[in-house]
Amino acid sequence: MRVYCAADYYHASRVAANIISAQVIMKPDCVLGLATGSTPIGTYEQLIRWYEKGDLDFSEVHSINLDEYRGVSPKNEQSYRYFMNSHLFDAINIDKKNTFVPDGMEQDKEKACRDYDEIIRSHGGVDLQILGLGHNGHIGFNEPGSAFGKETYCVQLSESTRTANARFFASLDEVPKEAYTMGIKSIMQAKKIVVIVSGESKREIVKRAFLGPITPEVPASVLQLHNDVILVGDEAALSAYYEAVR
Ligand code: F6R
Repeated sequence: MRVYCAADYYHASRVAANIISAQVIMKPDCVLGLATGSTPIGTYEQLIRWYEKGDLDFSEVHSINLDEYRGVSPKNEQSYRYFMNSHLFDAINIDKKNTFVPDGMEQDKEKACRDYDEIIRSHGGVDLQILGLGHNGHIGFNEPGSAFGKETYCVQLSESTRTANARFFASLDEVPKEAYTMGIKSIMQAKKIVVIVSGESKREIVKRAFLGPITPEVPASVLQLHNDVILVGDEAALSAYYEAVR
């Protein structure tokens, strides 16, 4: 694993955006695996700036997102589709037909998951997967205890995740109880993975995930088994990791 440590969130976002840019330049029709959450927002902002300067062309890029709330319409501001449109897709020249987020409105869970796995397969898999890291080690919506062998599935959101995400909704009651997520197996099949971490609140989980035992109790720990992972973070998030390895 390679680790890039930047002074702060802004510079860590630039490093992550540089890696994505390199991917897009080297393979213009690449498949990007994208994430929502607070962490990648700075990365997406940087990509938009470089696109506006004429340095990047997304016209042939395909994207496949990690997850989506079940039962939430793409028009709902809390949907991950809405997030991706507003934080990235609407501002660049990616063809929306080439952008995929699980279909939160599909009531048939098995069909929703099967269809998404087929989308991933028919695109030849993800070239570069972007991940954030939950405070409990989750990646996508794969919470502690998730089996490592799953592809896309429907997950019951834990109360802690619902509470953490309640900040985006009018009340806790409005936070969906289920989501569709790429499983750990789907994530591990990406050819290259970039994990972005920022802030002191992530320092302990970064250490546990990348230096601790590989266990479903810390879903991100499985990334230690992937042969091409880049960890990009700011000093605050990487401080415990560096204290342990130095
Ligand atoms: C986002 C996702 C989540 C987030 C994680 C970290 O699509 O699947 O796993 O990456 O919850 O969220 P932030 O970046 O808000 O700390």
